Amino acid sequence: MCGIFGYAGRDNAAERIINGLKRLEYRGYDSWGVAIADLDSEQINLVKHTGKIGEVSSEKLFDTTSTIGIGHTRWATHGGVTDTNAHPHYSTDKSFVLAQNGIVENYQELKSELISKGYEFISQTDTEVIVRLVEEELKTAQDLHEAVRQAFLKLTGRNTIIVLEKKNSHIIAVRNGSPLVIGIGNEEIIIASDTLSFADRTNKVILVENYQMVEYKNGETKLFDVKENAELKTEIIELDQADTKVEKEGFDHFMIKEIVEQRYTINEAVQYTLDELNPLLGRIKEKSSKGGQGKVYTVGAGTAGFAAMQIAFFLRKHANVNATELKAYEMESYKNLFTPEDTLIAVSQSGETADTIEAIEFAKEKGTKIASIVNMLGSTITRISDYKYFSRSGAEICVASTKAFTAQTAWGLLLALSLIGKYEEAKKVVKDLSQNLESFFEGNDFSNIKNLAKKLKDQEHFFVLGKGQNFVASLEGALKIKEITYKHFEGFAAGELKHGVIALIDQGTPVFGIISNDENKADMLSALAEVKARGGFTIGVAKENNELFDFFIETIEGHEADSIANIIPFQLISYFMALQLGNSPDKPRNLAKSVTVK
Ligand code: G6P
Repeated sequence: MCGIFGYAGRDNAAERIINGLKRLEYRGYDSWGVAIADLDSEQINLVKHTGKIGEVSSEKLFDTTSTIGIGHTRWATHGGVTDTNAHPHYSTDKSFVLAQNGIVENYQELKSELISKGYEFISQTDTEVIVRLVEEELKTAQDLHEAVRQAFLKLTGRNTIIVLEKKNSHIIAVRNGSPLVIGIGNEEIIIASDTLSFADRTNKVILVENYQMVEYKNGETKLFDVKENAELKTEIIELDQADTKVEKEGFDHFMIKEIVEQRYTINEAVQYTLDELNPLLGRIKEKSSKGGQGKVYTVGAGTAGFAAMQIAFFLRKHANVNATELKAYEMESYKNLFTPEDTLIAVSQSGETADTIEAIEFAKEKGTKIASIVNMLGSTITRISDYKYFSRSGAEICVASTKAFTAQTAWGLLLALSLIGKYEEAKKVVKDLSQNLESFFEGNDFSNIKNLAKKLKDQEHFFVLGKGQNFVASLEGALKIKEITYKHFEGFAAGELKHGVIALIDQGTPVFGIISNDENKADMLSALAEVKARGGFTIGVAKENNELFDFFIETIEGHEADSIANIIPFQLISYFMALQLGNSPDKPRNLAKSVTVK
């Protein structure tokens, strides 16, 4: 989703900003812009385009060099994907430019007021409203700092803005909701949406909280509380650099690299000592195990929402904990149910998903304690959690999430089994799975899965059935494929088949069944038999072949972690089918990696 990258230092700012925007590309965007302040001529040079940044070079964009500027990647919300709607936006007198990450929820009323005062609008964006509002505030404010502050306080919604002034070597950024971090490099400062965007320059960061303003002016960086207008102390923290590589490392796409990396990332996610797990284990045992009234909720969105479901399943199934999965964007009916006895486990790769943050805020208001399993260091969800855990998968760049899901669920299995004293067993299960994955990927040319992808690529409707431990895998497996093949894939509980889904089965309709050697095997086979009897094309994702399968995909042995192992064939099918269809696996249409707006 939208990304912000501001730079001030010694280097060519345009070059640094383009590099930074490329490192933000993974978040998903449809247009971009770079603005450079030429301090000698006191002018801001602005370039904005739809599409990808590609191999653009700074010299081609700007004929001057400057060491200060801002850039933005836009994921359209208000107004179509056009050069004009791309950010940053000039003020009328071109004395400053502004870019936003978020949504101004009251933009319509602000816009009508500004129009009645004579302001003209060039774009269809909500962001231009902020620009005009700052201009209006400048009429009475003593300086740009005060005008931006006053304007910001009039906005509703989650929005983070960055402003570049044409003189004074001056950048202002204010955060509310959408993420903002400051990178402190060697005689340079970067103000950006995430730490990954400047991980090649520095690991020293200042985390900016909501309603805080960063001001860089003439070489000095200050932090302010926007509401109080008071200067704040800054704290520089050092992040673990090893987590921030963003190279394809010889793979054709980030997606396949990240799928293959699961052979060790799954195991990384469970590298917690009992001492580190104990605070959360103790809380759940005390409040939610036998006798306790507290509930455990798990919450997330998209793939992380499915990981949350799987974690709740593990907690119920293995640890008899009364755990309920919630969708971050469907919380309304739960708002009044949270109590201080409850624990909410938030699951997120980015740690910045607006829906998930809002869900946490609801729960926090009621005194519920928050635990989280997040992949991005320094992210918002981590900061607002009482019990913080990292999935330690390294940067996940491909929009479709793979290694984050398996890491989050592996951590969930560790949590569930540790609650019943099976910490060592949990670690062994995950380690064994990791080793099985190592052998699975070793020298594998994926010919079976490639054949299936080729065979099915022209079909439009697909179904995936799962039951018990494999129910979530059916949902996440289907999501993965629809995200990058743009085909209609639906995951269902096998039990749903007879209650409606079977009406959709026609001659040749592909239906996947995910089958473990567990108590649900017989039901799963019956479901596939019913599909086959109606002419459907059955694909068994299982340990061994069966006469009921028209196509067989052998799965990786996972034991208690079977549901985690079983997602991997679907990741591979989606990747190879996307390639067959000519789609970009890393950057699927319309999707954003980090969904920082509602
Ligand atoms: C978007 C992404 C998904 C991701 C979801 C939640 O929809 O496209 O891949 O699962 O956001 O993101 P999070 O960062 O909270 O895991």
